[in-house]
Amino acid sequence: MWLRDNCPCGACRDARSQQKFIQMSDIPDDLAIAAVEFTNDEAAITFHPDGHRSKFSRRWLDDQVSARPSDLRGELAKVLWRGEHLASHVTAVEWSSYQFDDDVRRTALRGVVNYGFTLLRDTPTHEGTVLAIARTFGFVRETNYGQLFDVRVEVDASNLAFTSAAIAPHTDNPYRDPVPTMQLLHCVSNDVHGGQSGLVDGFMAAALLRQERPDYFEVLTNTAVRFAWGDEQHSLSAERSMIETDPRGHIRGVRFNNRSMQPLQFSAERISEYYDAYRYFARIIERPDMMWHLRLDPGDCLIFDNTRLLHARRAFEESGTGRRHLQGCYADLDGLLSTLSILDRSVQ
Ligand code: OGA
Ligand code: ZN
Ligand code: ZN
Repeated sequence: MWLRDNCPCGACRDARSQQKFIQMSDIPDDLAIAAVEFTNDEAAITFHPDGHRSKFSRRWLDDQVSARPSDLRGELAKVLWRGEHLASHVTAVEWSSYQFDDDVRRTALRGVVNYGFTLLRDTPTHEGTVLAIARTFGFVRETNYGQLFDVRVEVDASNLAFTSAAIAPHTDNPYRDPVPTMQLLHCVSNDVHGGQSGLVDGFMAAALLRQERPDYFEVLTNTAVRFAWGDEQHSLSAERSMIETDPRGHIRGVRFNNRSMQPLQFSAERISEYYDAYRYFARIIERPDMMWHLRLDPGDCLIFDNTRLLHARRAFEESGTGRRHLQGCYADLDGLLSTLSILDRSVQ
């Protein structure tokens, strides 16, 4: 069945796209191998009952055996970190070299896969630059906030992000499904006191929870909770678990945002169990060694994995002409991974 499903012949597969023509139901139920002929570099197979012939190169077969499943989104593909130990690993690159040097671009995008973020320095400080940056590796994900959103102090703010208050570590927009997997924050201006940024590796926090309190880890992976946000025109809501694992049980996503989390609606007993687990997880995230601190200066742009990293800012004070203005946008990790994969191809 495996061989037949993977038959490379022109009747089973489109030569141009390599996509399969055949469907599972096209393969006969009583499929069997009628004959095999080996040559040095090929196996030719004749199938019963229809006499279909397939040829497989030895090299291709060997590749299938040695391939390891490699989900670049899961924890096994990551370097988990604590902020305290991160300094020497921070991927920070200059915009001018990022723009014109494929090696630099590869390093930067690889940083997002491995560490969850990359810092671009000395990008242009005019408004809209964040969109141009996102388009260097993928596609901007437009939302109700627009193609980009402004993070600055607003009167009658519809979101705490648009005030000068501190924002605790969180992932963005957990009330969307699918959640935006990438986020960019670009600093247009910043001459206020305070407002420093912080990043926490949510996969590291989840891994610590699993190690210290496997029972709590289970609760946060197995319980769906509701996140919601809305205003006069929009009503968004999604029900997912705070920690997501893949079918092998590996960490693959974190949603953490108390701002938009909705009242738990389970039995009193399960609610109290949930809060125990949630509070323990929150305290891991707040441990002083977990956060990597930085100050975003005009022209800095953080590019990060919003399914993994939590971001935060300290409160700030606008005084006189001092203002803080960031522009953010969302994009998707699949676009970044595709760009990286093509860049990797060029060095092989
Ligand atoms: C946000 C946010 C952080 C900042 O807008 O989602 O987290 O530094 N902003 O203002
Ligand atoms: Zn075939
Ligand atoms: Zn945010």
